[in-house]
Amino acid sequence: RISLGEKRAEIVKLGSGERTQEVDEASKARGTRVRVFGRVHRERKQKDVLFVTLRDGHGYMQCVLTGPLAKTFDALTLTRETSMMITGEMREVLAGAHAPDNRELHADYFEILGKAPGGEDAVTNKVQAKGDAQTLLDMRHLVLRGETASSVMFVRDAVEHAFNCKYHDLGYTKVSPPALVQTQVEGGSTLFGFNYYGENAYLTQSSQLYLETAIPFAGNVYCIEKSFRAEKSLTRRHLSEYTHVEAELDFITFDDLLAHLEDIICGVLEIVLGNPRIAAMLQDLNPDFQMPERPFMRMKYADAIAWLKDHDIPNEEGHPHAFGDDIAEAAERRMTDIINRPIFLTHFPAAIKSFYMQKDAEDPRVTESVDCLMPGVGEIVGGSMRMYDYEELLEAYKREGIGAEAYYWYTDQRRYGTSPHGGYGLGLERFLAWLCKQHTVRDTCLYPRYMGRCKP
Ligand code: 4AD
Repeated sequence: RISLGEKRAEIVKLGSGERTQEVDEASKARGTRVRVFGRVHRERKQKDVLFVTLRDGHGYMQCVLTGPLAKTFDALTLTRETSMMITGEMREVLAGAHAPDNRELHADYFEILGKAPGGEDAVTNKVQAKGDAQTLLDMRHLVLRGETASSVMFVRDAVEHAFNCKYHDLGYTKVSPPALVQTQVEGGSTLFGFNYYGENAYLTQSSQLYLETAIPFAGNVYCIEKSFRAEKSLTRRHLSEYTHVEAELDFITFDDLLAHLEDIICGVLEIVLGNPRIAAMLQDLNPDFQMPERPFMRMKYADAIAWLKDHDIPNEEGHPHAFGDDIAEAAERRMTDIINRPIFLTHFPAAIKSFYMQKDAEDPRVTESVDCLMPGVGEIVGGSMRMYDYEELLEAYKREGIGAEAYYWYTDQRRYGTSPHGGYGLGLERFLAWLCKQHTVRDTCLYPRYMGRCKP
């Protein structure tokens, strides 16, 4: 082992961008010594040289071990995912050679901090041996260390941050509604119920009703919280626990709601793509991604039914679509993929939508409702204007067979200064599946939860 030497080594992070300006500077000024900590992402032996790609969450760095250092026992038995400290000198890579961020660390000393197993238990065997989806999900804690899975998580962090920035730019207040509730929002069939100190309670399906109670004191509000759905089907876009970006806007019209949705979606994308590190990841994940063109296409439900009939896309029973049909996932996705641009699908019949939706003044069969559909995924947003007349809401409870007592606090919004207002919920995992071109929402959350899976 080689000693640390006279000069003090600086601890640096590995990625490019702001955090690593020191390293960028260092790689220009030959002889600058640095100390890095990370895990072995890859290792490659070439004659008497050992190349180690170190990873620390901020980026990757190529480290070069030569001479006696490359012949030490630890170097010769180095395994992937081993954590280590390396000190040495930053240099630009030679012309024609490639390394992350075009620089490398020429090591003169290293220490192993946590050795990872090799052979049968090597990380590559654990996650790649079978390669089937279930094994990868069982091994998600190790899969997350890979480039694709971790990139999606970094994009997710950037998207969540961008939503917070954009809402605050718009002057919205963030609130944090409860997850344990005694009311349903989106129908009884997907409620997770549990015993709450002897009373019936549920995991929330949506924070919408609580957000509506916040607008009288805060004006426009939003939240980013978990929602829970006991979905009894296994599809590539349904989770039992998902992250729900929801907002509620006061004193608006339906057109205002649609304009806001375009603004928030495009505004978030602009912020995300303005981050060079994240933009580079997106370029790898989804090279064909294009900013959606504004205005988004607007299509009424009745026109979608006609479109599906014209294109011979049947309903769930295999019959031609008719007014009043729920547009099922497969039909919706086929239509969105053929049209191949974001669509605002509006004015769904009251009979197939939730109890709280405001009816269209010109056609009371339908509601002022919108789903935003994206190619590859289909619905990523569901929203509407909210029924704001007191008597009409009481009627709606009755129609749905909902006991009004439990909703006294929601009904009170219509008694104490009601207002025309509306809002929406955006599924973060679906938004990411679209943005990162992932086949399933199971790959856009840290640890997916769906029917049959509650581990790791
Ligand atoms: O259309 P949904 O059910 O609408 C509501 O919950 C409204 N109360 C929201 C509101 O207006 N504040 O759900 C909204 C969005 C969907 O468009 C979808 O993106 C996502 O939530 N979503 C799911 N994502 C993953 N797994 C599930 N099981 C989901 N169910 C809904």
